[in-house]
Amino acid sequence: MNLSDKIKLLEKEYNNGNMVKAEVMVKELISEDSTLPHLHNSYGMILDKLEKIDDAIASYKKAIKLNPAYFEVYFNMGQLFMRNRMAEKAIPNYKKTLELKPDFVEGYIALGNALKYLKKFKEAIFNFRKVVELKPDFPGGHIVLGAALQENSQLNEAIPHLKKFGVASKARALECLYSIKDISGYNKFLLELSKSQPLNLRAATISAYASHQLDIENIYPFCKNPLDYISITNIESDLKPLSFDDFYKEVLSFDEFWEKSGKVTNKAYKTHGNIFDNKTKCILKLKEIILDQIEKYKQKFSKNKDYIITYWPKSFHLYGWHVRYLKLGKQNDHIHPDGWISGGFYIKIPKKKKNNEGAIRFDLHGFNYPVLNKNKKIPHVEYVPKEGDFCLFPSSLFHRTIPCASDEERHMIAFDIRPKN
Ligand SMILES: [Fe+2]
Repeated sequence: MNLSDKIKLLEKEYNNGNMVKAEVMVKELISEDSTLPHLHNSYGMILDKLEKIDDAIASYKKAIKLNPAYFEVYFNMGQLFMRNRMAEKAIPNYKKTLELKPDFVEGYIALGNALKYLKKFKEAIFNFRKVVELKPDFPGGHIVLGAALQENSQLNEAIPHLKKFGVASKARALECLYSIKDISGYNKFLLELSKSQPLNLRAATISAYASHQLDIENIYPFCKNPLDYISITNIESDLKPLSFDDFYKEVLSFDEFWEKSGKVTNKAYKTHGNIFDNKTKCILKLKEIILDQIEKYKQKFSKNKDYIITYWPKSFHLYGWHVRYLKLGKQNDHIHPDGWISGGFYIKIPKKKKNNEGAIRFDLHGFNYPVLNKNKKIPHVEYVPKEGDFCLFPSSLFHRTIPCASDEERHMIAFDIRPKN
């Protein structure tokens, strides 16, 4: 087999996710000829996938030494740093990529995202504008530029970009129109979206809030009064013979990570990936209960005309994760735009706590939407969960948690019912 065939085989293994095999193959190829920069680049990519970060960087550096103009290697290094949340280290690599390849659109997007991560909005926007300049018809450019402009409060500028493409992006356009008080523009675009994208959850969120604030009918069909769709029950007896302690021990055996960004989750650990991929006894039991409860939920609201019921997904998958809150751990207001129905199961609640500590609060208001009518009380529901409590609610509904001052940990499993396309 010649070198080019061996490289093709290596690429095949890499693309199929067989990293261990790919590593053996690339090492063998390098031992045959160590002067080929792309082999060191491939080795770096494989090591990166295997989470051997330092070795991956060393390999990328070898590739650069052999070919200093190899822009893809700088880009790969940038991606490695960003995946490991080291934006400061990613940025010079992206800049070098673009110095070598000034028309590389993905490079501007990556650089912009790294800058945005560091809240350097002006510079991020500069790079996102480059994307739009280079490729005016590329949806991704308008989506990232519009979102950055919105987050930097440049709402008027954001709107034309946000209105063009995407799902979240179009909902953001609605948020901007509402925020700049262009109510006729808001109503017009909402009507358009209610026809073209009636299942856009983020649009449903702003629509439920704005209709309350503006005293207008909520025409968006997904879920007009999301607070009416909260369901809370206690499943302790359904868990038998399993106990909360069984759940507690089991979830602690799963790998978890510290939620660093603090955007939504603060002072808490979360498990990696989908908790329901674990075929362990408590998780299997919980899955069975959730599927049963979801069916009951659907039946309970079966007479409702909202699309959340009438367009109930034909098939869905269940995606969940465990959250372990430390003292003062909390979640800021958020929605689950990829879900349909979301929920929570409470495993461990601190014994010593005051008032509404540890509560889940469902609200029409969130994301710093402006309050245009200060005289109107914004509807919300607050519930202090007990161990064994189980809640279901529309994924478009804002929710957050009230922190607990207790030193005891709080444990819960959150999940989404996600429609399959
Ligand atoms: Fe949530």
